[in-house]
Amino acid sequence: MHDLVRGKSVLELGSGTGLLGLVCSAIGATETLLTDMNKDVLNLLKINSDINSETSKCVSVKELDWFSDDDMSELKGKYDVIIGSDLVYDPDITPEFFKMLETLVTDKKQMAYIASTVRREETFNQFTQLLESSAVLESSTMDISDLSPIFIQENSDCSVKLSIIALKQI
Ligand SMILES: C[S@@+](CC[C@H](N)C(=O)[O-])C[C@H]1O[C@@H](n2cnc3c(N)ncnc32)[C@H](O)[C@@H]1O
Repeated sequence: MHDLVRGKSVLELGSGTGLLGLVCSAIGATETLLTDMNKDVLNLLKINSDINSETSKCVSVKELDWFSDDDMSELKGKYDVIIGSDLVYDPDITPEFFKMLETLVTDKKQMAYIASTVRREETFNQFTQLLESSAVLESSTMDISDLSPIFIQENSDCSVKLSIIALKQI
């Protein structure tokens, strides 16, 4: 993981506690932006980034709602690495999440890593189908359930998948 983020700028989507982005910062990301749309979560992210400011430097927090084109316009093509965990869980928001990835990934140097706990196959399949039909993104998805306990599963019936996404190399 060090090599994936060291010396790179990192954008975390739907950050929650911000753990993922804070770890990326601690292991060498040059700048890290934690994002979410929920006001309470954004406050928590500020607290968590302050508490961890000695080990996680150059971390900032910004509101980013996948339903808002305004929020994402200044982030297009800007971050080397885009990360997210446990963001594919609601069929009503997955299409907007996917559209946002298409909007943010505009440079061939960018990579996105989206980890998903698969609670319902249909919900995750919706995401992979959107990725596979994308005219601009290419992706591969692998089962990383065996990497547990890195990803702690609340339900042992769930698998954990990692989708690696980039701009189509054409
Ligand atoms: C299941 S939590 C995962 C949090 C964190 N990534 C983790 O793995 O612990 C989903 C997160 O996505 C955020 N979220 C949901 N809908 C969103 C949207 N439309 N725009 C931005 N963030 C959203 C939620 O506020 C929440 O923090």
